Amino acid sequence: MSNIIIEREGAVVIARLNRPKALNALNTSLLDELLEKLQPLDNDPTVGCFVITGSERAFAAGADIKEMEQKSYLDMFQEDFFGAWEAFTALRTPKIAAVSGYALGGGCELSMMCDIIYASESAKFAQPEIKLGVIPGIGGTQRLTKLIGKVKALDLILTGRMMNAQEALQAGLVARIFPKEELLDRTIEIAHQIASYSKPSLIAAVEAVDRALELGLREGLLFERRVFHALFATKDQKEGMKAFIEKRQPAFVGG
Ligand code: CAA
Repeated sequence: MSNIIIEREGAVVIARLNRPKALNALNTSLLDELLEKLQPLDNDPTVGCFVITGSERAFAAGADIKEMEQKSYLDMFQEDFFGAWEAFTALRTPKIAAVSGYALGGGCELSMMCDIIYASESAKFAQPEIKLGVIPGIGGTQRLTKLIGKVKALDLILTGRMMNAQEALQAGLVARIFPKEELLDRTIEIAHQIASYSKPSLIAAVEAVDRALELGLREGLLFERRVFHALFATKDQKEGMKAFIEKRQPAFVGG
């Protein structure tokens, strides 16, 4: 059985995690398959947005504890365990996580590796690794802290408690909440809107916003301005501005 089900709707690609018996626990073969399927699509100029989703019960209940349990320090170190997730974050097509049910440990971290998180009312986010005698290992201590602040991140990481969708919305982790039966359709609708824009400007926008979490303000502003300048090398900038002046919809070509 495939761990990842891919559907394509025009410029939008939906990747559904599909290990229902393990509540979509993230093991190595699931990650390999996710990358194998998304990497070629990432380079496809006709793909404008990825939607990553799970089931109604679980987005993903974490890294696969059964896969990790018997590993030694040396195994983890030599395999650079979790290091391969960097290739997921390196995908340049905008990624939206549509989260229902459990987004725990690696599941919460996977949602934060995406560029936007939309949640249904049933979503539950947690970093429960402390209960397993470890700490988050795919970015939980870093991304969660940058997204919701140190105090709230530590409240979650040190207790391992679950945060519901409303709390996640208030904390700034989740962008919007939709009723659970509408979550995927609404997310796909937004993904289509995003995908209708110029792909170089989408990539540039994500890269610039990501720099805001990493650089000081002066460097970040300079990066933004230089990338803004660079977009004037694209046909899409000419088309976007001309279309506005001519009071018509732009026809972006992705270059
Ligand atoms: N890894 C492996 N298997 C998992 C899993 C995980 N993270 N989460 C759930 N499963 C499996 C269960 O073992 C169970 O399998 P069996 O039927 O073979 O026993 C199946 O999924 C269903 O789970 P439950 O019977 O436990 O279902 P529940 O409804 O009683 O509880 C739950 C649901 C609260 C999500 C519970 O499964 C749970 O607490 N899961 C673990 C959550 C967790 O600790 N996640 C962090 C993992 S470590 C990590 O992610 C490290 C990191 O930084 C990346």
